[in-house]
Amino acid sequence: MQTRTPSLTTYVVARRAARGGALYGEPMHGTTPRELGSAGAQALLTELFEPGADRLAHSIGVGRCAEHVARVLGQPELLVSAAYLHDIGYAAAACDTGLHQLDGARYLRTLGASGDLTGLVAHHTAATVEAAERGLDVALRREFPAPSGELLDLLTYCDMTTSARGEAVTVDERFERIYDRYPPDHLVSRSMQHAEPGLRRTVSGIERRLARSLR
Ligand SMILES: [Fe+2]
Repeated sequence: MQTRTPSLTTYVVARRAARGGALYGEPMHGTTPRELGSAGAQALLTELFEPGADRLAHSIGVGRCAEHVARVLGQPELLVSAAYLHDIGYAAAACDTGLHQLDGARYLRTLGASGDLTGLVAHHTAATVEAAERGLDVALRREFPAPSGELLDLLTYCDMTTSARGEAVTVDERFERIYDRYPPDHLVSRSMQHAEPGLRRTVSGIERRLARSLR
């Protein structure tokens, strides 16, 4: 069971005091701190998740997948950072509403992340579907406009082909394991069932692109 920190400000101040300087930036007026590039994103992950935690393993697996996709398809580092950080909303320091995409994007915003990065985290893997189930879809869209372009699909592809432990899996295996983990009437199961056709189309489209590029 995750526990929440007393407040984010307390958390950031404590970290700064411990390390003797600003880490990952305090609010930086919409610019991406250099520390939230790929290396900084991984450092932040290891700071916020317990060693050996599934969320950490999964996040690293999704980041590795994005590194591969970025190399093959010539995509920017933004994709890789977003992949490492996409589930940061599950961390105790970030968890608030329970919609991890929204919580993660809000948390990253306080660290000075760019709108491009927070938008990807906020909307990855059909976030709007679960947001609607939780009554948070208006807040999500108002605070974080959905990214245009292909990075969101590429991020979602990486998430949907990486298991909870960070291994590469097929989209069939990924859905199977999600439905095994949550009972059928659980909000996450219901949301995934609703989003499944669209997520499958996204994954197949990216798989075709990758196959063409690797020929
Ligand atoms: Fe994920």
